[in-house]
Amino acid sequence: MPSKLPVGILGATGIVGQRFIQALEHHPWFEVAWLAASDRSEGKPYAEAARWRLKTAIPDRVAKMTVSPASPNGAPKIIFAALDAAIARELEPQFADAGCALVSNSSALRMQSDVPLVIPEVNGDHIALIDHQTWRKNSRGFAVTNPNCSAIGLVMALAPIHQAFELDAVLAVTMQAVSGAGYPGVASLDILGNVIPFIKNEEEKMEEETRKLLGQLNGSKVIPGPFAMSAQCNRVAVEDGHTESISIRLKKKAKPEEIIEAWNTYRAEPQELKLPSAPERPVIYLDAADRPQPRFDVDMGAGMTTAVGRLRPCGVLDWKFTVLSHNTIRGAAGAAVLNAELLKAKGYLG
Ligand SMILES: NC(=O)c1ccc[n+]([C@@H]2O[C@H](COP(=O)([O-])OP(=O)(O)OC[C@H]3O[C@@H](n4cnc5c(N)ncnc54)[C@H](OP(=O)(O)O)[C@@H]3O)[C@@H](O)[C@H]2O)c1
Repeated sequence: MPSKLPVGILGATGIVGQRFIQALEHHPWFEVAWLAASDRSEGKPYAEAARWRLKTAIPDRVAKMTVSPASPNGAPKIIFAALDAAIARELEPQFADAGCALVSNSSALRMQSDVPLVIPEVNGDHIALIDHQTWRKNSRGFAVTNPNCSAIGLVMALAPIHQAFELDAVLAVTMQAVSGAGYPGVASLDILGNVIPFIKNEEEKMEEETRKLLGQLNGSKVIPGPFAMSAQCNRVAVEDGHTESISIRLKKKAKPEEIIEAWNTYRAEPQELKLPSAPERPVIYLDAADRPQPRFDVDMGAGMTTAVGRLRPCGVLDWKFTVLSHNTIRGAAGAAVLNAELLKAKGYLG
C-alpha cells in the first residue's frame, strides 16, 4: 500500500483541532504527523494538553505525540489550521510562505481575493486561484479556506436551487450550537435557558461568504453571486448542529417538487471522484413536518450531509425552508479535509 501523506494540525487542542484528529484517524491518504497549539500546550503530550471533548477516544498514537510550537520549522508540508482568526492572521501566511499547503478553517484569509473559499460540491473550480498567489510563485506554498460554519449549510442548500432557478434574494436566520464558539466557549450561565441574538462578525461573514461561494471565477478573481442577502445570527443551547430558517426569491419559476428534486439528486465532483470524506448524498430533503432537528439529524452522512425540510411558500419572498448542518464536521474539520482531498485529486499536493 502506498505510504500516507504526513499532515500537521495547527490549533490541534481546540474543538475543531479535535475534530481533525477524529476525521484523520483512519484516513486512507493522510496521517497526522505534527500537532501545534499555543505556549500553554507546547511541549506537553497531546492527551495532557487537550481537554478532549469528543465521544470517540483520542487515538493512542496521537495521545502520546508532543505538541510542537506553532512555527513552520519542522512542520509537514500539508497543514490543517484551526486557529482563532486573530492568531491565524499572523501565523497562517508564515506557513504558506514556508512552502506549505495551508488548508484553513479560520476567517483570516477567506475573503482575500486570491484565496479560494471552497466547498468542493459547489465551487471546486475556484481552487485555480491558488495559481495567482504570491506564496505559490515564491515557495510553492498556498492557502485554501473553507467557509464559516453557518455559511456552509446555507450554501449547500442554496447551490442546487441557484443552479436550476437562479437566486434573486436570500434571508437567513440562524440558531447556532454552542460548540461553534470553541472551548470553553459561551459560559453556561449565559446560554442555559436562553437565546443570545448576537455572534460577533457572524452575519457579515455569512453575507459576504455566501456570495463569494456562489460567485463566478473570472481569471484571478471571483465575481460575487448577483443576489441580495441578509443574515441574522443567534446562539442557542444546542451542543452540535446549526439550524437555519431560510426564505428565498428566485429569478425563474419553480415548483416545490422541482426544488426538492434538485436537492435530492444533487451530486458533484467529490461524489464523482469518490473522495474519501464525500457523503454519498450532499443534501437530503426530509419529508416529516417537524424535521430536520439537531438531536436526530445532525449526524447524517457522518456529519457531512446537509439536511433540509419544511419547504413551503413564503408570503414575502417565494419559498421558505429549514436547513441543518453539523458545525464542527461539515462546518469545519470535515470541510477542510474534503478540501485537501480535492487538492490531492487535482494534483496540488505533490
Ligand atoms: N467551532 C466551530 O464550529 C467552528 C466552525 C468553523 C470554523 N471555526 C473556526 O476554527 C477556528 C478554531 O475554532 P475552535 O472552535 O476550535 O476554537 P478553540 O476551541 O478555542 O481552539 C483554539 C485553538 O487555537 C490554539 N491557539 C490559541 N492561541 C494560540 C496561539 N497564540 N498560537 C497557536 N495556537 C493558539 C489553541 O491552543 P491551546 O489549547 O494551547 O490554547 C487551540 O488549539 C476559529 O477560527 C473558528 O472561528 C470553528
